[in-house]
Amino acid sequence: MDLRMQVITALMILLLLQSAECRRARNGITRNRARGKWGTAKRSAANDCKDYVEAGDKFLDCQDKHLTHVFPGWPDDTVHMLLARNKIRILRDNTFVQFEKLKSLDLQQNDIRVIEEHAFSGLNKLTTLLLQHNQLQVLKEQVLIALPQLRYLRIYDNPWSCKCELDSLVRMLQVPSNRNLGNYAQCAEPANLKGRYLKKIKPELLCPELEVNITDEQIPEPVSAAKKEPDSTTCHTYMFPKPLLDCHSRDLKNVPANIPPDVARIDLSGNSIKQLRAMEFVAVKDLKMLNLSSNNLDYIDTTAFSGLLYLRELDLSNNSLQYFQYGVLEDLYFVQKLVLGNNPWKCDYNIHYLIYWLQHHYSVEYSGLICSSPVEFKGWLVEDYVKTYNGDCPKDKLPGQTDNLQETNADADDEEETDIQPSPIRGRERTIKIIRLS
Ligand SMILES: *[C@@H]1O[C@H](CO)[C@@H](O)[C@H](O)[C@H]1NC(C)=O
Ligand SMILES: *[C@@H]1O[C@H](CO)[C@@H](O)[C@H](O)[C@H]1NC(C)=O
Ligand SMILES: *[C@@H]1O[C@H](CO)[C@@H](O)[C@H](O)[C@H]1NC(C)=O
Repeated sequence: MDLRMQVITALMILLLLQSAECRRARNGITRNRARGKWGTAKRSAANDCKDYVEAGDKFLDCQDKHLTHVFPGWPDDTVHMLLARNKIRILRDNTFVQFEKLKSLDLQQNDIRVIEEHAFSGLNKLTTLLLQHNQLQVLKEQVLIALPQLRYLRIYDNPWSCKCELDSLVRMLQVPSNRNLGNYAQCAEPANLKGRYLKKIKPELLCPELEVNITDEQIPEPVSAAKKEPDSTTCHTYMFPKPLLDCHSRDLKNVPANIPPDVARIDLSGNSIKQLRAMEFVAVKDLKMLNLSSNNLDYIDTTAFSGLLYLRELDLSNNSLQYFQYGVLEDLYFVQKLVLGNNPWKCDYNIHYLIYWLQHHYSVEYSGLICSSPVEFKGWLVEDYVKTYNGDCPKDKLPGQTDNLQETNADADDEEETDIQPSPIRGRERTIKIIRLS
């Protein structure tokens, strides 16, 4: 009797222990496994990763962790895996095989030299693969065949060796439907092909020994013209959570060329961009946030923000702006926030356009509009300055021509605005609108 009880108790304890063990493993807490396999230091590095859910997708953020491996114990329902700025050198076969739900994989700014042929096996849902800023010289097309859904591939800033081995990859990148794969990647060698873009190079040039005669092709493309412009590949791009082009403090003198069109946020703060030229952002139609703070900006072309229909936030703080040219803000239909502080706003007639625009777009939140000159208005709120100007300048003193202009415009609205702004502004504003509509 006693003996039987003892046996049953022992069995039950055993069962309990086992199920606890199971649960621990199932919860993805792989302490034991990690300790056995990778040692204590690496385990703690892996455990430092943050996982969180955003918009229903599970993120695993293991950036800046000095990792040299991908850890098998990471949650296998991860959808976005962020591994930027680690020390990974090799991606071995089947590294990601248990992460079946993965849609994006950010491996930029590692030290990757080798990607084995089956490294990405199992990633049937992956759409975005970021490999820029690594040490890749070659990559076989087969590596990417495991990725049927791949739509974005970034591989620039790798020392591509444009020889025979790269032939199949280059041909694949050049298929017209693959337009978001491999943009801006350039050959690092051989010398005669240095600087050529993988997307544009003639594949025959990679394997000259196979070709009959290509001597006329060996003259390098004129890359010098493109070299003068800073290129967006000097910046870092991040796809998740929102596509961001991070060009913060890159010593840029101009807005870089080739901004990827799908970028939602651009941080250009802390550079030396003195001027914004015409149509500077016209290709980046989905842009929501543009940060140009701390740049010494003193001039913005009237059409610099053309096309930025969806921009919500514009930071122009800490620059040298004195006023906005007429029309500068007209494309920003959905802007919600303007950060304007720490600029030497000059309170004279030119500043009226900005105030006029803000009055028309009263839901826009803005800050930092303080007169810096002339001395008599220094320290005033710009709005207050404009109010006194209007007080001194009653309507009947202004040229009568504006009335005609208004009458010719069937769509002239906001009659109540007549009192808020001096008429010349209204007149010119209407003219601008007519030109833009036609
Ligand atoms: C390539 O062209 C050069 C002259 O343009 C000729 O001398 C040479 O024989 C050609 N090579 C081959 C393999 O046809
Ligand atoms: C723009 O960049 C500066 C400096 O990096 C930062 O302090 C500021 O918060 C940024 N502005 C916005 C709107 O994110
Ligand atoms: C303003 O910009 C200058 C460079 O143009 C920079 O040195 C300074 O730190 C910036 N100030 C702030 C508050 O960001």
